[in-house]
Amino acid sequence: MTLQVPQPVLSGSKALVVGIANENSIAWGCAKAFRELGADVAVTYLNEKSLPYVQPLAAELESPLFLPLDVSAPEQLEAVFAAIEREWGRLDILVHSIAWAPKDDLQGGLLNSSAEGFAKAIDVSCHSFIRMAKLAAPLMKDGGTMFAMSYYGANRVVPNYNVMGPVKAALEASCRYLAYELGPQRIRVHAMSPGPLKTRAASGLKDFDLLLTEAAQRAPLGELVDIMDVGFACAYLATPYARRISGETVYVDGGVHIMA
Ligand SMILES: NC(=O)c1ccc[n+]([C@@H]2O[C@H](COP(=O)([O-])OP(=O)(O)OC[C@H]3O[C@@H](n4cnc5c(N)ncnc54)[C@H](O)[C@@H]3O)[C@@H](O)[C@H]2O)c1
Repeated sequence: MTLQVPQPVLSGSKALVVGIANENSIAWGCAKAFRELGADVAVTYLNEKSLPYVQPLAAELESPLFLPLDVSAPEQLEAVFAAIEREWGRLDILVHSIAWAPKDDLQGGLLNSSAEGFAKAIDVSCHSFIRMAKLAAPLMKDGGTMFAMSYYGANRVVPNYNVMGPVKAALEASCRYLAYELGPQRIRVHAMSPGPLKTRAASGLKDFDLLLTEAAQRAPLGELVDIMDVGFACAYLATPYARRISGETVYVDGGVHIMA
């Protein structure tokens, strides 16, 4: 059967990308890749503090929608999807590229994590994706693709990843269950698992530079990944070429995860 594939491959697609903090953000790589391949891209910014960093990037994308979103504020999340409904009447691609944990819980080891800190980390870094999926699904009228950013620390112990390990494990499992529940609506859900990237979120992890050095040394492909590698991998999975792929954890890590 011949696939009907537009040229460029995402032209006409409507995407929402959540998680751009600055030009190093993985979400920025996703937004740029989608735009380059023809999609219209809506973006959000966390708060007034992040606004000046994200605004020029939204302008570069010619984003028709640029809205505040702190996922801890339910009314803001609802407002984002209401704006998408008004502007586009539909959605094809959703990217959740956010994570957060209180500093003490992030840096103190899992054993020392507090119930409150663990719950906050899960809420912002995992359950917010479920909330987004619930609001996005009715807008994905012709099917669609949803992505959440995970990390290898979900599956194997990565020193200093601490509370984020179990949180990312929950995120990957959530992607699989959402893929199952949304499959009948032709909505595909993937967890992306990028290798280490020097971003603001990563700067909260102790000895992160060691992770970078080790990843470059151990990767069969012999080098680190960049944010565009993650963006183009998502872009491919959002095209009709990948229409029967769902529920995957997709490693964009130069092959590090296959090594013993
Ligand atoms: N950098 C890495 O090495 C790496 C590797 C694998 C996965 N990841 C994951 O990629 C995702 C993006 O992180 P990044 O590395 O691009 O860093 P980043 O700092 O650029 O992005 C993190 C984003 O989370 C947002 N955020 C935090 N709390 C929020 C809230 N309450 N509401 C809305 N947004 C909130 C921030 O505003 C920021 O835009 C995260 O899920 C991270 O765990 C990162």
